[in-house]
Amino acid sequence: MKKFVYLLLVAAMLLASVGNAAAAPKSAITCDQTVTVTAGDWLSKLAEKAFGTVTSYWAIMWATNQKNAEDASFAKIANADALEVGQKLCIPSKTDAEAFLKDFNPTRASDLAKLFPAGAKGQIIVASWWTNGGEFAGLNQMFEQFKKTNPDVEIINAAVAGGAGTNFKGQLLSQMLGGVAPDTFQLHAGLEVETYDPGTLVVNVDDVYTKNNFAAVFPADLIALLKYKDHFWGVPVNIHRSNVLWYNKALFTKAGITAAPTTWDEFFAAADKLKAAGIAPVALGGKDGFEIQHTFEDILAGSMTADEYRGLWNGKTSWKSPKVTAALETLKKYISYANTDRDALTWAAATQLLIDGKAAMNIMGDWANGQFISASFTDYGWAAVPGTNGTFVALSDSFALPAKAPNVANAKLWLDLAGSKAAQEAFNKQKGSICARTDCDYASFNAYLQSAAKDWSANAIVPSVVHGAAAGPGLSKSFGDALILFAVSGDVAATQSALVAAATAAGFAQ
Ligand code: GAL
Repeated sequence: MKKFVYLLLVAAMLLASVGNAAAAPKSAITCDQTVTVTAGDWLSKLAEKAFGTVTSYWAIMWATNQKNAEDASFAKIANADALEVGQKLCIPSKTDAEAFLKDFNPTRASDLAKLFPAGAKGQIIVASWWTNGGEFAGLNQMFEQFKKTNPDVEIINAAVAGGAGTNFKGQLLSQMLGGVAPDTFQLHAGLEVETYDPGTLVVNVDDVYTKNNFAAVFPADLIALLKYKDHFWGVPVNIHRSNVLWYNKALFTKAGITAAPTTWDEFFAAADKLKAAGIAPVALGGKDGFEIQHTFEDILAGSMTADEYRGLWNGKTSWKSPKVTAALETLKKYISYANTDRDALTWAAATQLLIDGKAAMNIMGDWANGQFISASFTDYGWAAVPGTNGTFVALSDSFALPAKAPNVANAKLWLDLAGSKAAQEAFNKQKGSICARTDCDYASFNAYLQSAAKDWSANAIVPSVVHGAAAGPGLSKSFGDALILFAVSGDVAATQSALVAAATAAGFAQ
């Protein structure tokens, strides 16, 4: 079985640079053996044979990539899990392997950089949690563009799997507190920046805005979200919508449903019809640890006016409101229609159930649209989550600059690119989001994205809490914890009390 346990967290390591720098430095590595990959070979198996431990495969990857810089007949291993037959590998001596591994931690972005030689103009370590189909396809578009203009910079993709950054954010924070950092990383626009103590672990990117005149090309709602204490901390690449109900059209037809539900009554009536037709009505993930909270923020947004919903996050609306009680009741009912194995399914796996025709509906952000695009699946429909028509629950992914970025000049080139029209058009078409810029041409975007772009300019925009926009790390964590418990207990009163307590602790008198 071809499995790399250690790749579960550090996924999709891509070496994106084309051709090595003109004069690659000679590596000091000598190969104890050279091996040509044959069918059934994989790195951990070779590592076990050479060194007695499967986890030593990183040393083979490191040695082979260093060799490749001076001799192109050696392979360039971008992804340890994707060897190809015929590739030439360098197996270092046991001493060299041990010396390398002694100081190597694959969950540390800066250590991943050690696996690749630097280009003539160094490296850039790009950290994100984009490892799923549409996510990676979008990121790869940016790599391609960066590579074109900066062929001498080696790109290190330090992506950590886990939807909504579940694994990524904690790992990154502890690394940065320990004094090591990637060159740039994925950061939601909004109060999420407080996680990284703006001005301490991350530096502002005002100069990048000035140089590129970015303040003039992003919409006012987004600028308001991006500015924290009068500074910009990230360059946004997109705007995602949280509150989308996706459905499989063929399954709707099969169950005799002719229109997407717009109210919760209609939703549950449709779910009953699907059940009666032997179709699983709702696909729900849970493994990434954000899906329940995500669904709840959308239900909340549909249970009150946009202003009341915003008020939940700034202290103007009390969590004691009967509208919160009703939203919890709705969530409870929604869960009762969903698969019970949600803890085993990531958001992407739940989306896959729709693609495979195994479930009919799913509430998820429009990164699900990116999954549909990457799977070439077109038989889906969408609607605002019941009750939220006219409301756009928004979030935005940006790239930030750590104070300890090892390659600052390259990081700034990445930030220039992230805000550009060309990069945003290429990225978002794959990612399933609309541009952060106001001047993108949507003609070649898919129908969903064209509708999202229209809604963004016509709807009331409210911030997502689960995706970093509405609240800082404290409140968003206690909100999340309360909902995760609720998914198991179903206790509406206790959960509402926990939410009231969370808001109170955040300084909002209830
Ligand atoms: C969100 C992020 C999106 C998407 C999603 C699932 O937090 O903003 O870009 O990646 O998580 O991983």
